[in-house]
Amino acid sequence: MQNAARVSVKSVPNELCADSLSDGTAPLDAAFEETVQVFDRVYQEYALTNGTYFAPIDEQEIGRLETMHGVFRVVFDGRLIFPPVRSPRRILDCGSGGGDWAVEVAEQYPESEVLGIDVSPHTMPAYSPPNAEFQIDDLNGRFTFQSNHFDVVHSQMMAGGIHSNRWRSYLRDIFRVLRPGGWAQMVEIYFNAQSDNGTLTRGKDNQVRDGEMLALTLRE
Ligand SMILES: C[S@@+](CC[C@H](N)C(=O)[O-])C[C@H]1O[C@@H](n2cnc3c(N)ncnc32)[C@H](O)[C@@H]1O
Repeated sequence: MQNAARVSVKSVPNELCADSLSDGTAPLDAAFEETVQVFDRVYQEYALTNGTYFAPIDEQEIGRLETMHGVFRVVFDGRLIFPPVRSPRRILDCGSGGGDWAVEVAEQYPESEVLGIDVSPHTMPAYSPPNAEFQIDDLNGRFTFQSNHFDVVHSQMMAGGIHSNRWRSYLRDIFRVLRPGGWAQMVEIYFNAQSDNGTLTRGKDNQVRDGEMLALTLRE
């Protein structure tokens, strides 16, 4: 049976909780809650204004994330965490979105504490197991978690939300907060549009150039 999701939130971006899962948090700054409608989709105003993230935060997006979670389940043969991790104590999900991964991991490892962080409070799950918690913060700020804290850090489909000049320190932060022997699991989508029948050729279609540009930006 699932309990109401335990949600604790941060008021100030760039200062991620340093201690236990629920310490160091503050009431949610209203700035994170503001939304803006563009045509028929709803976006988080903070993410758009600060150039943090581009995707909507509405029901349709939550459904898309759920679908992607199902796709990854098939692609990864049902594995949520790739190595045979036996009893992880603390698990961090960076950019938890709809919480599908965090909730399933919490259910699979009921002895663990799972913390999901996302810049948007709008997509977090309404219900989750008691060992899962969700916090709001911008991961473009440096982590202030203590070192060697987590057994597993997961970061999936975050290419659109981590600034190109943040990736180096993002990876450093992840490795710093992982305990020795811990596991960092990063899943990203290859954005290069391709066709297997030759109808989409290099340079012929803007989508290809855009995809390449994005890939280049990410590599910078
Ligand atoms: C494509 S979704 C992926 C969600 C989840 N990881 C998954 O695999 O379903 C990206 C998520 O990251 C969040 N996000 C993007 N940039 C962020 C940032 N700088 N800090 C915190 N969360 C961010 C978005 O709000 C969104 O929920």
